[in-house]
Amino acid sequence: MSAQLTPILTKFWDDPQSWTLATYESHEGYQALKKALAMPRADLVQMAKDSGLRGRGGAGFPTGMKWGFLPAPDGGPRYLVVNADESEPGTCKDIPLMMAAPQLLIEGAAITSFAIGCDHAFIYLRGEVVHVYRRLLRAVEEAYAAGYLGKDILGSGFDLDITVHAGAGAYICGEETALLDSLEGRRGQPRLKPPFPAVAGLYARPTVVNNVESIASIAPILLHGAEWFKAMGTEKSSGFGIFSLSGHVTRPGQYEAPLGITLRELLEMAGGMRGGRKLKFWTPGGSSTPMFTDQHLDVPLDFESVAAAGSMLGTRALQIFDETTSVVRAVSRWTDFYAHESCGKCTPCREGTFWLKQIMARLEYGKGTQDDVDKLLEICGNIIGRAFCPLGDGAISPITSAVQYFREEFEAGMHTPASELFPPAASTLFAKETVHA
Ligand SMILES: Cc1cc2nc3c(=O)[nH]c(=O)nc-3n(C[C@H](O)[C@H](O)[C@H](O)COP(=O)(O)O)c2cc1C
Ligand code: SF4
Repeated sequence: MSAQLTPILTKFWDDPQSWTLATYESHEGYQALKKALAMPRADLVQMAKDSGLRGRGGAGFPTGMKWGFLPAPDGGPRYLVVNADESEPGTCKDIPLMMAAPQLLIEGAAITSFAIGCDHAFIYLRGEVVHVYRRLLRAVEEAYAAGYLGKDILGSGFDLDITVHAGAGAYICGEETALLDSLEGRRGQPRLKPPFPAVAGLYARPTVVNNVESIASIAPILLHGAEWFKAMGTEKSSGFGIFSLSGHVTRPGQYEAPLGITLRELLEMAGGMRGGRKLKFWTPGGSSTPMFTDQHLDVPLDFESVAAAGSMLGTRALQIFDETTSVVRAVSRWTDFYAHESCGKCTPCREGTFWLKQIMARLEYGKGTQDDVDKLLEICGNIIGRAFCPLGDGAISPITSAVQYFREEFEAGMHTPASELFPPAASTLFAKETVHA
């Protein structure tokens, strides 16, 4: 595949006032909604299936199939909930999209709502990004004023309200069922599945939960056709996606490209490694996906190829680290994050991430004990497959993959005999934590 960008969602981000309705309308904005409202709903669901679009929120579940899981209408409400929580370290695509082109999301939400028979959709936004909240509120207001939302949209008889909801800012609220609990006003913690949201979601009613980028992709697919979308990407990972490059790269940012592009190709477009340094490690899909090294520069970034190489495409959050970076230090920061964001509902994750954090901190400061690396791996082994939701599995990915590729750097932090470290007096750094030991 020749490496080229496919600016579709990102096409007019550089226009002056790209976020206004007027700019959006000058780029075929709301033409897809007009087309949708004249189509049978089932054809829209079929179009999503035919395009092969897979969820852009991390798991890659086929979008059309998800819509098709809703039970037949029973006269009661059904909901679309757009997941705009975007809290995975390194992931930076939904927030720029909502800042630069919020109408793309609103038009996609309107088409999706029509397709699934929903008259009230929600956009659940992480609470810290107040500037995005304001932009979304204004964009929704503009869409109402133009008749793209509200009663009898464009004279079609279809009604839709959109509520933008700002959460309090918790990573776990990106997990779709925790998000639903939070949206209902409860503490955001994952629900037991089944029932899946398609059957009993928001207020126990059939609900589709989709990522911002998934929903924003719907209008262009409808306008240009499922075949057009399928012509990009690979056979099983069709279409385009936003790849966010961050870290030690010359021109970090959002690069929209067909799935299946490689990091080598993306790096070339991004001006290479910053300062001409050597690549050491990188994440293909955010910090919860096992890291790669310079041996993986040519892995096609599609769902299947990344999985075959031992990681996950996740959210295409390419965090790039050069040879000057301490892998132990980077992993220690991510581990702090997961320990902090663990919701506490299940023991393996709540307790496990706490202990992983203590050990990573010891290793980072050269205070590790002789068996700390094995202990890390043992704790990871007690989390994976035993945690209630995927946050637990995600928390161990950076550690197990980093030990796999850079074990000697972890071992370099193991200098302290265990007897010196326990009881707590060994280090003032850890005195607070070891009180609990
Ligand atoms: C801990 C955790 C955090 C998540 N955060 C997000 C998020 O911020 N945004 C998102 O779209 N999906 C997130 N997901 C995935 C969602 O649970 C869900 O799969 C997704 O919203 C479905 O949308 P999609 O099919 O369009 O990808 C997260 C999952 C987990 C386990
Ligand atoms: S794995 Fe972690 S985040 Fe998920 S339910 Fe258990 S404690 Fe909560």
